[in-house]
Amino acid sequence: MSERLIIDTDTAGDDVTSLLIALLHPNAQLDAITICNGNVDFDQQVENALYTVEQAGKSVPVYPGCPKPLVADWVDAAYVHGEDGMGDSFFPKAQQRPEPEHAVDELVRRINESPGELNLLAQAPLTNIAAAVTLDPSIAQKVKRLWIMGGGVGNVTPAAEFNFYVDPEAAKIVFKAGFPITLFTWTLTLSHGVFFDDDLARIEAVDTPLARFYRQVTRKAEEFERKMGVPGTTHPDSMVAASIVAPALVRATREVFVDVETQGQLTRGFSSIDELGILGKEPNCTLVTDFDTQGFLELFLDILR
Ligand code: BDR
Ligand code: CA
Repeated sequence: MSERLIIDTDTAGDDVTSLLIALLHPNAQLDAITICNGNVDFDQQVENALYTVEQAGKSVPVYPGCPKPLVADWVDAAYVHGEDGMGDSFFPKAQQRPEPEHAVDELVRRINESPGELNLLAQAPLTNIAAAVTLDPSIAQKVKRLWIMGGGVGNVTPAAEFNFYVDPEAAKIVFKAGFPITLFTWTLTLSHGVFFDDDLARIEAVDTPLARFYRQVTRKAEEFERKMGVPGTTHPDSMVAASIVAPALVRATREVFVDVETQGQLTRGFSSIDELGILGKEPNCTLVTDFDTQGFLELFLDILR
């Protein structure tokens, strides 16, 4: 069955892989792309999304959203993905241009127009989603599902993963808003979202323009991860996109209560995930705890072919 979705992205590195899945998988209908502050320069992220759409041979509207977090100063991850977020490729501009409407207005409009039908994949800091649900709290009950990549073990500080670290206030708002949420953490990425050398050799053997595009865009992040002791490429965002179009990839989940630390000196952006139900609070999130990495690789190879 075809899944309608909107992707909210800080397009760089694996955000691109995720977009490719949503643009090209037969079970996906990507209605719109919204851009949020995050990985690299905001306007560059808009260009990266447009360029990715062009590489896929598609036309999907791209809406620029909030260029800064709600409260905090923006923190970038160009040191991971390259200055342009695309492995220092400095691609030319795509022909398609961004839409004039604001991403937050578009999220509210589109969700209200199709209650119960739209999946929302949040693979960036949660600024746009928090702003949209503040503007219209009713959208929380109207999305089919909000899929979030964020939290778990830290990758910016020991306590905080990038998407929650950049805008913890937004993440806190989103987890309190009443969305039906499925969460994929950085912990899950490290245990189930890595393509190792043998996997990458299979991708290289495909040798299509898209396979070469994937390798080029992810090369800086791969270099960085290898220095950090991860022997391959990480897929935090694209494992979520794959799960939306192929739900059997998710092998186990747990209903949990999640909150986000906004104050701590050492723990700002920490995701408090109550896996053991210690707090006795009503769960607000489905946490993915096991994932079919091999099935994910096969799905992605099919996209690249
Ligand atoms: C998250 O940060 C970004 O760099 C990735 O695209 C992912 O969304 C992982 O911490
Ligand atoms: Ca991202």
